[in-house]
Amino acid sequence: MAAFRDGIRMAMRGEVVEVRDFAPATTLLDWLRLARRRTGTKEGCAEGDCGACTVVLGRERDGRLVYEPVNACITLLGQADGAEVVTVEDLGAADALHPVQAALVAHHGTQCGFCTPGIVMSLFALAHDGGAPSRQQVCDALAGNLCRCTGYRPIVEAAMEACAAPVADAFSAREAETLALLRRIGAGPGAFCGGERAFFAAPASEDELAALCLAHPDATLVSGATDVGLWITKALAPVDKIVWLGRVRDLDRIEDGEGELSLGATVTHARATPALAAIDPDLGELMRRFGSRQVRTAGTVGGNIANGSPIGDLPPALIALGATLELRKGDHIRTLPLESFFLAYRKQDREPGEYVRRVIVPKLGPNDRFRAFKVTKRFDEDISAVMMACRVTVEDDAVTAARVAFGGMAGVPKRAAHVEEALLGSSLGEGTSWRRAADAVSRDFTPLDDHRASAAYRSQVARNLVIKAMAEIAGAPSSATRIAGWREAADAAE
Ligand SMILES: Cc1cc2nc3c(=O)[nH]c(=O)nc-3n(C[C@H](O)[C@H](O)[C@H](O)COP(=O)(O)OP(=O)(O)OC[C@H]3O[C@@H](n4cnc5c(N)ncnc54)[C@H](O)[C@@H]3O)c2cc1C
Ligand code: FES
Ligand code: FES
Repeated sequence: MAAFRDGIRMAMRGEVVEVRDFAPATTLLDWLRLARRRTGTKEGCAEGDCGACTVVLGRERDGRLVYEPVNACITLLGQADGAEVVTVEDLGAADALHPVQAALVAHHGTQCGFCTPGIVMSLFALAHDGGAPSRQQVCDALAGNLCRCTGYRPIVEAAMEACAAPVADAFSAREAETLALLRRIGAGPGAFCGGERAFFAAPASEDELAALCLAHPDATLVSGATDVGLWITKALAPVDKIVWLGRVRDLDRIEDGEGELSLGATVTHARATPALAAIDPDLGELMRRFGSRQVRTAGTVGGNIANGSPIGDLPPALIALGATLELRKGDHIRTLPLESFFLAYRKQDREPGEYVRRVIVPKLGPNDRFRAFKVTKRFDEDISAVMMACRVTVEDDAVTAARVAFGGMAGVPKRAAHVEEALLGSSLGEGTSWRRAADAVSRDFTPLDDHRASAAYRSQVARNLVIKAMAEIAGAPSSATRIAGWREAADAAE
């Protein structure tokens, strides 16, 4: 096996910090607070929901230094390998607040202050994005930061002011130096920290990854850790052998071809969003509502598929599009239709030592119509109760092909075979023909009944979503069928 480094390396305040002896499942939050005494970063929920623990990781993306917010409570320490770690303590100078801090003070954007360090860090990342964000973009950037006492109006106003122009701070001033430092610590082979029975490994190439997976088929693969992190902090599961995919070259590649889009397994939701939105705006909207900015920054396409959750958002959408999954074990690469990957509740067609490599997504043809709907209790940062996506081919006002997939309706993300069959040949001009297809939902599914939604609710919603999709495809204006955008439309009409 290749020679690995025996420690992880990160940059903090312009210095290289190397860590060798650590328990593989140590979270970045615990390490910051307990080992580095950086107690400005808070722990609220310890499950990625509240944002009190938000820190920012600086990484090189496409030759640029970008600052990305993550939830330190569910980020593993090892995932900081190769990154600049920025916490709230790093922002202000001895005699001056950082512009985002100053704006929060000026707008009275804090009371008890528990959420404030996380909000400061989310705004720091937003300010470094460079554009003057709209109010909606500010709200999207803050959807993963809960504040229980100040109220969001002053916080949003502070954000609008602080991010209105490109931020000029100490971080932008030393961008070239930081990039050079990150390139230096990121060069060379991957890392293997620990021994045979407990380790954190960060392979740098696919060959290193494939060999590690074969040597340790019982190891837990970690990509963004937005699921695995919760096994550690909530289920207190012993996770002793970790192979982190985040440093593997080329696994984060996006190939945007003429007729298809290829997304490497470690492409984050944030990076996948523009390419998916270009296929259809509904995919862009789905991704906007995927977790929070922190979750989209860390969580990956491969993780969302490999975890096999029946309520994951991407699988139904990608199944409806007709995606193919590519897996690798050793030197052997195989492909299968994405829907075939999901065998039963939390049981996937993946052998020990095998990993998800990429997903290949066909684009829409001129006669194809696509719809994706996510139904949740809360609009932002919530997991689906029901998720529905369809790709329908229409010729001469009749449906000539249909792929319809649901999440939250069975133990796995699943196609609705009877709905698809009933849609075939139905006429767009004749509502009764596709309403029959909606009725077929009851033949396809006996839905889950859990705390998120009852089985009866899910059945009703699923049926309604088929009707909604077909009504839109038949020409009903989205203002009559959608909540998203209604406020902007109402404002414009005034
Ligand atoms: C606050 C919060 C909000 C969320 N909101 C949503 C949401 O709106 N919609 C949604 O669908 N999900 C949501 N999730 C769940 C989670 O973010 C997603 O499922 C995410 O895509 C997981 O990706 P990851 O890279 O973080 O996976 P990880 O946690 O790293 O891994 C997940 C699983 O996949 C395996 N795995 C990862 N990569 C590979 C690979 N390449 N090959 C084989 N196995 C692999 C891991 O071993 C593990 O079993 C949310 C989670 C949190 C904490
Ligand atoms: S502590 Fe709540 S998101 Fe991390
Ligand atoms: S200021 Fe108290 S939770 Fe936000």
